[in-house]
Amino acid sequence: MLLRLDKIISSSGIASRSEVKRLVKQARVSVDGVTANSADMKCDPEKSEICVDGVPLRYSEYHYIMMHKPAGVLSATEDGRGETVLDLLDGPTKKLELFPVGRLDKDAEGLLILTDDGEFCHKVISPKSGVVKKYYVETENPVPESACAEFEKGIVLADGLHCLPAKLELFGDSEKRAYVYVSEGKFHQVKRMMAAVGCPVTYLKRVAEGGLQLDETLAKGQWRELSESERVSIFETIMA
Ligand code: URA
Repeated sequence: MLLRLDKIISSSGIASRSEVKRLVKQARVSVDGVTANSADMKCDPEKSEICVDGVPLRYSEYHYIMMHKPAGVLSATEDGRGETVLDLLDGPTKKLELFPVGRLDKDAEGLLILTDDGEFCHKVISPKSGVVKKYYVETENPVPESACAEFEKGIVLADGLHCLPAKLELFGDSEKRAYVYVSEGKFHQVKRMMAAVGCPVTYLKRVAEGGLQLDETLAKGQWRELSESERVSIFETIMA
């Protein structure tokens, strides 16, 4: 597909559209070995070799990042009051217009996907897609076995809101730890579901979305690109 040179180069995160103009003026951009003379010239990034300062560009239309979100950071694109997950990015990735896929509370940790692909984001968070999010929780009180059946039926929250059927899995023989599987993303959903069965959450970590597990080799605050197979795995079923 033919695209403008400034769009192609800015999508790689190495320069903004206006910076591309400057790079072109400085004769630092080439297309198939020929110095580009205009930032709005069109070429096919799949077929042409585009170089900046002689270095070939790796083009992709959209970007997908897995982050190990630490507690204390907001999963938003901007916040006047504090640090957001975008502040944890660096290099060319920081120049991309990424946003978080679904929310993770400020005090929560774990798997957070960032992308600039709105359609993908919608697909992951829409309950209609059935992408199951898996959370590890620690609770103030022992979790009663009977809560599992309540989750299966669909929890009714304190304000009367009905949740879709979900799964609660007690964690080994520890009574104050569990996994929660949900396919929707209401505000404070897991905390409110656990509170509804008398077990306020003291710690919350998202460990998987669909078939995509948090890469535990990423330290809190670290991130990396998702491979294509990892991205596709998000749509795998993990809850029967
Ligand atoms: N449920 C919550 O309560 N908080 C989150 O951050 C995610 C799910």
